[in-house]
Amino acid sequence: MSSQPKIYIAGHRGMVGSAIVRHLRATGLSPESLVLRTHAELDLTDQAAVRAFFATEKPEQVYLAAAKVGGIHANNTYPAEFIYQNLMIEANIIDAAFRNGVKKLLFLGSSCIYPKLAPQPMREDALLTSTLEPTNEPYAIAKIAGIKLCESYNRQYGQSHGIDYRSVMPTNLYGPGDNYHPENSHVIPALIRRFHEAKTNNAPSVAIWGTGTPRREFLYVDDMAAASVHVMNFDKATYDQHTQPMLSHINVGCGNDITIKELAEAISKTVGYQGEITFDPSKSDGTPRKLMDSSRLNALGWPKFAWKKVCFRPTGTSFRPIGNHENNNPNAHGIADATQRRIGYLGQHIERTTRTAIGCLGGKPRHGCCSSAK
Ligand SMILES: NC(=O)c1ccc[n+]([C@@H]2O[C@H](COP(=O)([O-])OP(=O)(O)OC[C@H]3O[C@@H](n4cnc5c(N)ncnc54)[C@H](OP(=O)(O)O)[C@@H]3O)[C@@H](O)[C@H]2O)c1
Repeated sequence: MSSQPKIYIAGHRGMVGSAIVRHLRATGLSPESLVLRTHAELDLTDQAAVRAFFATEKPEQVYLAAAKVGGIHANNTYPAEFIYQNLMIEANIIDAAFRNGVKKLLFLGSSCIYPKLAPQPMREDALLTSTLEPTNEPYAIAKIAGIKLCESYNRQYGQSHGIDYRSVMPTNLYGPGDNYHPENSHVIPALIRRFHEAKTNNAPSVAIWGTGTPRREFLYVDDMAAASVHVMNFDKATYDQHTQPMLSHINVGCGNDITIKELAEAISKTVGYQGEITFDPSKSDGTPRKLMDSSRLNALGWPKFAWKKVCFRPTGTSFRPIGNHENNNPNAHGIADATQRRIGYLGQHIERTTRTAIGCLGGKPRHGCCSSAK
């Protein structure tokens, strides 16, 4: 029998789940020890199906990276789907894990759990201190419920059943497998797509919503995956020393932010767009700043991400032609139309080079041209 633990990664075809799979495989885990199910094979909102799956597979550890995810537009348009599906996925998995003897589980949340006007940088204890950003409140409430599910199962069953369920709250992520949907994507893939299309169509300018002054933090998804595995495996005594039973989640950010203007310029330059970048101040800027305080993560032995303000490295990208490749993660809403698959595929080739620019601006330690710093 294999001495490696049997690990279920929920959402393994998503951006975060696939990065966790990459990281676990790179650290020597055999394919046989990973339990993976696509959405079509197992609908995680179906309680009976989830219970049957856990009872049959009996995984020993779970990474909960399955979720209904999207940007502001998607959150505003589908609030019922965002709160219902995320609550169901979390409740079904966490309860079925407990019932089937899973001792270790890591829940993936998001920085949107914090109040709209939380003091910056945002510490873990800002949770539930004030009102949330209205546009993604249903999603945030579901994510907060996920944290509280983990904490409540730990408090009730931690000693009697030896379970240890933890939560990480990543900042904005980007990387392979991102969602390039024209309306439902996050800011980095949205800008990559817009600049790429503007270049292809020789558009004279690209207008960015808002003033360009809001500051945002970005982390490369493979760094997030590595930090997640670190948190999952950290020894319990030290973990308990740095967390509290009812305030146990851990922020994961790179510790530095950049303005939307800087981000747009970095992406435009790497994509090779020659036109003008304009800003439309009539559109909302959203929160002026969103930066995580990741000192709890650092206290748990994860090194601070390095930061180099000017480390931009244009790579003279040449894009591969659009082919008929099937992208694993076509979009956030299951609209598996051919156009979206092609954009996803194209985006992956763009982002390989764009990442260098953003990664360095964002302070990424191990995969870009920045050096690691303790
Ligand atoms: N992306 C970010 O910037 C970011 C930042 C902070 C935190 N996070 C967190 O990281 C986690 C994963 O995000 P992501 O960016 O990787 O999202 P993603 O790329 O959209 O992946 C989500 C995965 O979950 C699966 N899924 C959704 N509903 C499901 C269901 N009912 N049954 C089975 N599978 C289902 C999806 O499968 P289908 O595509 O087939 O539906 C997909 O594989 C989320 O909890 C999110 O809050 C992400």
